[in-house]
Amino acid sequence: MAIERTLSIIKPDATRRNLTGKINARFEENGLRIIAQKRIQLTQAQAEAFYDVHRERSFFNELVTFMMSGPVVVQVLEGEDAVAKNREIMGATNPANAAEGTIRKDFAESIEANSVHGSDSLENAAREVSFFFAEVEIVG
Ligand code: TYD
Repeated sequence: MAIERTLSIIKPDATRRNLTGKINARFEENGLRIIAQKRIQLTQAQAEAFYDVHRERSFFNELVTFMMSGPVVVQVLEGEDAVAKNREIMGATNPANAAEGTIRKDFAESIEANSVHGSDSLENAAREVSFFFAEVEIVG
């Protein structure tokens, strides 16, 4: 398996409940390294650009408003098969469908306030990492 990098976001519902450390522990316990991390407040332009692929979906405006409703922690995770591994650690989009022991099963409040984002492909991971981080900010 290849060493990959993936973009993770700890969403406002989780930062509000002070869950950053608990969520980071899940990544580290499962062999992913946090090689870049910063806490930021998304602007509307950033939130809309990040979720541009969902622009035509009915939930787009609510999603953008939610992502701006508090601080987020954006991070780069590195490890073997990191993109797929992180998706496994996160669990299904809707916490009602998420497997036992996943972040979303244990912490998510709803399909919208679902605590974490993770890139869904290696190609999107590269794009999303460079959306938030300069190369010099990533120390592997
Ligand atoms: P999506 O890319 O389908 O899921 P994932 O985050 O698991 O890759 O959707 C992006 C986000 O959009 C999702 O995390 C939460 C939000 N969303 C809703 O608010 N309602 C919905 O019905 C869906 C499908 C997503």
